[in-house]
Amino acid sequence: MKRDLLQLFYLLSAILFVMGLRGLSHPKTARRGMFLAELGMLLAIIGSLLHHEIIDYRWIAAGLGLGTAIGVPMAIWIPMTAVPQRTALSHSFGALAAALIGISEYYRHGAALGSLRVGVIALEVMLGSLTFTGSLMAAGKLQGLIRGYPITYRGQNVSNLLLLAAMLGLIPVLMFVPTSTPAFYTLVGLAFFFGVMLVLPIGAADMPVVIALLNSYAGLTDAAMGFMLDNKIQIITGSLDGSSGFILSILMCRAMNRSITNVLFGAFGKVQEQPAGALEGRKAIRQCSIEEAAEILGTSRSVVFVPGYGMAVAQAQHRVREVADVLKSKGADVRYGIHAVAGRMPGHMNVLLAEANVPYDELYDMDQINSYFPETDVVVVVGANDVVNPAAKRLRGSPIYGMPILEVEKARVVIVCKRSLAAGFAGIDNELYYGDKTLMLFGDAKETMVKLTAALKS
Ligand code: TAP
Repeated sequence: MKRDLLQLFYLLSAILFVMGLRGLSHPKTARRGMFLAELGMLLAIIGSLLHHEIIDYRWIAAGLGLGTAIGVPMAIWIPMTAVPQRTALSHSFGALAAALIGISEYYRHGAALGSLRVGVIALEVMLGSLTFTGSLMAAGKLQGLIRGYPITYRGQNVSNLLLLAAMLGLIPVLMFVPTSTPAFYTLVGLAFFFGVMLVLPIGAADMPVVIALLNSYAGLTDAAMGFMLDNKIQIITGSLDGSSGFILSILMCRAMNRSITNVLFGAFGKVQEQPAGALEGRKAIRQCSIEEAAEILGTSRSVVFVPGYGMAVAQAQHRVREVADVLKSKGADVRYGIHAVAGRMPGHMNVLLAEANVPYDELYDMDQINSYFPETDVVVVVGANDVVNPAAKRLRGSPIYGMPILEVEKARVVIVCKRSLAAGFAGIDNELYYGDKTLMLFGDAKETMVKLTAALKS
């Protein structure tokens, strides 16, 4: 009876996970998708507690208590802007747990597991260990604890490939000689080391792709663990996690016009032909006041807002929508141009604008909005920088060269709202600020939007 109930819980949670993922594929249904996935996770946990092999619930209770004590404060207090590093930390915890389970299985049963299972454990422990250290490195780079620039040395790719080959070579060794504990623990050590070496040469600007990729490794680890423990829900969730993480990395690479191999081995961000500040003083910028910006906007028929990381930092999304509301009441057509990697996590701008109740049909992705810019009166760039930087199209050798951008310079006027001429994430100057059509509106995004609303209403 308990066993049937457990299978029922697992079946329901698997269905809920699939429905959750489907919901997450569109901003309109994302919240519901998240809720369904959470419900699925709850059912999976409850189901697992019915497992017949559990003889003592005390360790489980302690684990739940500890997990809750860490997870709840993380969810409440970590700001939205730090979600990428928080996600990387969560991956590292999950991967460490998976690696430790594999190590414990091998330690307890060893050769009795048989060749195939030892091989699966070895693969699982390898992926779990490298994902653990790799994710910690990614979190450190995003948090600024470790240098964000790629750290490279001569022969790096070759030594990394040799390391990978050594690890993969140890798996068949363990399958043939399952009793070889030195081989097993060497594999664990190499995998921890490989995670560090894998992320070291990757620039912080590529961390979102790396995190998604590590997410897919963590999923694969989970699926292997499910196979090892004969746990079906773990195989299902691991496969879903692994494949969706992989698809997300590919989508992000496409948004940046890069290949996965280029991200992993290209040391992106290393070439800095035009560092931040290179143009400052050499070219003139044009500034405008709140009143001037309000005057231009007040007479515009079509306005596109382009939000970026600065809007998230300033938490200006509600104030942006208020400006948009006033413009709409004056008869303007208002749209939002969303770049796939604006902000610091996939869907960052969509989440913030949804929170501010911006209608979904006003959000346009890059391909849709780029063709609209030539007929746009004014583009208001709110705390975005790299995603509107023409260097991506023109400056060979620039770290963002090749990344598709929002071509805001094609509009009649571009108003850029940020606090200074400081660089964005990639650390490079932005020629847009010195363009003939560009007006710099310096200030904090939230304060500026509040003042703009007041000026537009007066
Ligand atoms: P960024 O290029 O990072 O530029 C953000 C700009 O916001 C800065 O130049 C900053 O200039 C301004 N800013 C900061 N605080 C502000 C405030 N309070 N008010 C007004 N402006 C403020 O942002 P982006 O254009 O959104 O590009 C995102 C970058 O992050 C890309 O390079 C992308 O590859 C990378 N990245 C993306 C992700 C994902 S998945 N979205 C994850 C990690 C990294 P001031 O200091 O002069 O104000």
